[in-house]
Parts: sequence; C-alpha cells; structure tokens
Amino acid sequence: MKVLVVGGGGREHALAWKMKQSPRVEQVFVAPGNGGTARDADLTNIAITDVKALRQWAQAQGIALTVVGPEAPLAAGVVDEFRAHGMRIFGPTKAAAQLESSKAFSKAFMKRHGIPTASYETFTDAAAAHAYVEREGAPIVVKADGLAAGKGVVVAMTLAEAHEAIDFMLLDNKLGVAHNEGGARVVIESFLQGEEASFIVLCDGKHVTALATSQDHKRLLDADQGPNTGGMGAYSPAPVVTPEVHRRAMEEIILPTIRGMEQDGIPYTGFLYAGLMIEPSGAVKTLEFNCRMGDPETQPIMMRLQSDLAEVMLAATEERLDQIALQWDERFAMGVVLAAAGYPMDPRKGDAITALPADRADAVVFHAGTTMKDGQVFTSGGRVLCATALGHGVAEAQERAYELVAGVAFDGMQYRTDIGYRALSK
Ligand code: AMP
Ligand code: GLY
Repeated sequence: MKVLVVGGGGREHALAWKMKQSPRVEQVFVAPGNGGTARDADLTNIAITDVKALRQWAQAQGIALTVVGPEAPLAAGVVDEFRAHGMRIFGPTKAAAQLESSKAFSKAFMKRHGIPTASYETFTDAAAAHAYVEREGAPIVVKADGLAAGKGVVVAMTLAEAHEAIDFMLLDNKLGVAHNEGGARVVIESFLQGEEASFIVLCDGKHVTALATSQDHKRLLDADQGPNTGGMGAYSPAPVVTPEVHRRAMEEIILPTIRGMEQDGIPYTGFLYAGLMIEPSGAVKTLEFNCRMGDPETQPIMMRLQSDLAEVMLAATEERLDQIALQWDERFAMGVVLAAAGYPMDPRKGDAITALPADRADAVVFHAGTTMKDGQVFTSGGRVLCATALGHGVAEAQERAYELVAGVAFDGMQYRTDIGYRALSK
C-alpha cells in the first residue's frame, strides 16, 4: 500500500523511516517532508500543506493510510477532511485536537473529569491577570492559550517575570497566538515540582495501547538552564516511569481522558501524549496534553519499535488495537538534537551541513529543519537534526548518540552535552 506521513520535522522523518521498513508498504510519501526525507531514495516529498489540496492529492494517488505528525494540520481539521471522503487516517479530529490546541479547553476538561493537574485560572483581561499573580505569588506559570510551538509557556520564578509574561502574551500579544474564538487568552496555573516524563498512547476510539515511555529535555542548555524549547533531546525508556507511575498515569489520566472525551461527545482517536509531572510523593499530574507524538521523543521510540508500524496504524484505524501487542527493542535509545545558531528565539537558516554520518539500523541522524538544494543539505529551521542511537543501557546509548553527533558539522551548531543525565543517575 501507499502511505502518507503528514509533516516535515524530525518526528515525521522517524515515522516515515519506520513505515518504509514494513513489507506491506510499497511507497511512503511525506508532506512536506525535509532534506532528510528528500535524500532518502525510499521516501518521496510532496509539497502540499493545505488540508483540502492534500486530501485531493491523496485520493488521486490511492493513498491507503495517512498518519499525521504535527499539531497544526490536526487543528486545521486534516482528519475531518480525510474521513469525510472515506479515507483512512490516524489522528484526532479538529474538535478532539483542542486537548492540545487550547490550554483553556484542556484545563476545563481536566477539571470537569477529575484528572489531576495544576490548579488554574483563565484570563483575557491583563489587569485581572496581574491582580491574580499578585494574590497567588511566585513561582507561578503563565501559558498562552493556543498553539505556540513550545514557546508559549513561562515558568515565572519571580512576580516580575510573571507580570512581564502577562504583558508579553496578553497586552501586547507578542506571540501572536490566537485561541479558538480569536484574540489572546492566558492560563495561569500553580507551579508543580517533580520530574517530567512523556507518556504517549495510541487510541483507536475504543482501546488504548501505551507506547514505550520516554523523557525529553525542554531547556536549551546543559543542566536544564536557559529558555524552554521544543525539546533538545530525548530517550526511551524513561526510568522515572516505574510500573507504579505507569499504572497511575493510565488509570488516573489516560483512561479518564478517553472516557471523558467520549462522554463529552468528542471521541478521541490518534496519538495522545500526556506530559507528566511525577511529584516527589509519587503523585502523577498532567502538565499538558498533546494530540500527537512528541518531537524528539518519536525518534528514540521509533528506533526501539520492533512491530510493523503500518500494521499497528491499520489496527489503530480499525478499532483493533486490542489485538496488537507492541514489541520493543530492549536496548535504550537516545536522541540528541542539533539546533541552528540563534535557536530558539531567532534561528539562522541556510548553513550548509558539511558532514553527515551514514545511517545504520541502530544509529540514524534524523532530519528536522533541513532542506536539500542541488544535492547539498542546508539548515532551514531551529531544530536541525536529531542524532539517535541504540545501546545496551543508558551510558552506551549516550556514548553512541554522541559519537554520531561528532560526525555532524554545520556552522553555529548548538546542542546539549548532557542528554540522558537523569536516566544515568537512576
Ligand atoms: P507545557 O507546554 O504546558 O507542557 O509547558 C512547557 C514546559 O513548562 C513543561 O514541560 C514544564 O517544564 C514547564 N511547566 C508547564 N507547566 C508547569 C507547571 N504547572 N509547573 C511547573 N512547570 C511547568
Ligand atoms: N518534545 C515535546 C513535544 O513534542 O511537545
């Protein structure tokens, strides 16, 4: 069959890389793809991003299965559009994608269904928001309501930072993020402490299957310093997700969420990603929902997946997930993100990637913000590459991932040197 992967980041490169290994798959298209999917002879890039045009193209091509990577096409209704024309696609509808696309929606949803999360208030009026943080005190967390590519959250350690974030997001609307009814809105929530993990499941509307656990590094610099980013590295499994944490995440967060969406008349299908905060007491709280896989979590997760991804996705679009037992490589997988100069605030584009190691089954440099021109790969976005490798244990996976990094070169390349440190200390 012909398969379409929607998106153009590292996550989509990893999904397409895994998809092409399936004996059931004849051809994999990636829309729009990137330099990495362009240079892979087994993958074909398609320069269409408009949802309706993409559906028309997919129909004409006889695409049998579509898998959506990023949140933007989901929030734009790509799943609704494909389904309305009888096409098989894995992802949530536009209404269900609000779990990610609107923080106000997801916080109200969690409150209504008793799903553990930080307490919060929602504001459109800056004066009221300022008064609220004065009452609550710091640390406190200010979040723009709407999709902001990981940049819409300020964890304010002081009141001054909180006030500044409110003005930035609400008064000046500097992020330019509009929520569903238009205009700017913020969610202000209490500060949670603990260790974060990414908990990602597949939902077919009736059944839920957890993927391997993973953990991401959100801050730009070593030792979790510097600004928040979309993620500077990830690994799987996440040792912090003990069997007990896993059980609590499923029973207290994932299953009530699926049931709650069903009760609210918005059945959930697709990947569901709960960002967990595991508190020192062992309690598990929801930091956020994403209606997609994580990036860069997908890269190490796909490297460990031994099951046929096409088979899994078919089952997931036919309410047959209960018949699937996912098989995982027992090794540890680690991915180190190589970012462009200036990331995350103002990434520079157009630097030539002058060295790139050849892919192996257990060590792949996945592409994200890259483009190919005349046979040469150039940077074209903030997160450029993700060097991902398998190893026996955390230390070996880390060593092998950084060996891969050492083989890559482009001007201004920045990366963390401590990806996996939390897992190493466990
Ligand atoms: P979000 O996009 O909501 O996951 O937020 C991005 C990052 O901000 C998270 O991965 C956390 O590191 C941090 N964060 C978000 N909400 C909170 C909170 N209530 N308490 C502490 N840190 C938070
Ligand atoms: N790596 C975090 C995310 O995909 O949201």
